[in-house]
Amino acid sequence: MELSQRQIQHAASIIRKGGVVAFPTETVYGLGANALDTNACARIFEIKNRPFFDPLIVHVADLSVLESLCVLNPKAEKLMQAFWPGPLTLVLPKKDIVPDLITSGLPTVAIRFPDHRCALELIRAAGFPIAAPSANPFGYLSPTTAEHVREQIGNKVDLILDGGRCRVGVESTILDLSTQKIRMLRPGGLSIEDIECVIGKIEKDSSLPKGNKPLAPGQLPFHYSPHTKLRLLEKPRLKFQKSKRLGLLSFTGSTPKISKYTHVEILSRKADLREAAANFFSCLHQLDNAHLDAIDAEPVPSHGLGRAILDRLNKASAR
Ligand code: TXA
Ligand code: MG
Repeated sequence: MELSQRQIQHAASIIRKGGVVAFPTETVYGLGANALDTNACARIFEIKNRPFFDPLIVHVADLSVLESLCVLNPKAEKLMQAFWPGPLTLVLPKKDIVPDLITSGLPTVAIRFPDHRCALELIRAAGFPIAAPSANPFGYLSPTTAEHVREQIGNKVDLILDGGRCRVGVESTILDLSTQKIRMLRPGGLSIEDIECVIGKIEKDSSLPKGNKPLAPGQLPFHYSPHTKLRLLEKPRLKFQKSKRLGLLSFTGSTPKISKYTHVEILSRKADLREAAANFFSCLHQLDNAHLDAIDAEPVPSHGLGRAILDRLNKASAR
């Protein structure tokens, strides 16, 4: 869906006045405000009901602003050249201009250059970087359509820019490049295989080191959850209770006893993990709105974008 220049300019003027605008990116919808304005960013936390220990990603639309925001290093520059614009967020040492509220007091800042025309035009029209988390209440499913945003927080934001469905469908991959050892903090829309082709092996365990405070809520044991109880199936279910309305998130639609389920969503009939990722949150929104007693989710293969899907399924089922 193409947005007009008038709509973009209107959204940018709201952001320039300290407002909060939901906008599409290639991954999920973001909830954006002026990254250099602490008051505007405080509203993001309020709208999302997000704890202040959970830092925001700063979105940029050109490389020239980077030097003012963070300290670059050769590996970061190599990754930017290979994958930006795109679904990769880099955590780097921050400069003073970045408010502490955005980084939750951390000495680092997460930066992302989204691959979406509307997001880029909005950032350019606003004239400064835009801080944006996913546009969902904290802990809930991420939005991949403007309708998802409307349903969840529509009455709290100043404007929702409707740019249609998000192409990638899962959030960006986050890499911590602030220390010698590169670590993946969250698997996401750029596969680890693609990243390792460019910079070699990286630390892939995105789980929380024991006793440490979370570096990314992606690392919290639960997150990305539907309201309905979700169970990640180890083996296909054999027993069904007549009185229970059960939903199924199926990978390809070939789950045994599939007809016993009240509501089924299929991620990709042709077992394509990109297509599965693009459909993932939409399918879960459908299941969560279907008045079910519980949702079964079938695992997907753990390579490529499957890793990001499994990460979110594990967290959604940990509630
Ligand atoms: O694809 C995306 O990344 C989407 C779109 C809107 O750009 N944004 C997104 O933001 O997923 P959010 O806030 O839902 O997730 C951002 C993650 C959080 O888990 C946060 O903890 C982590 O980034 N993060 C932000 N700054 C960080 C930092 N300095 N160090 C470690 N993690 C950080
Ligand atoms: Mg989020």
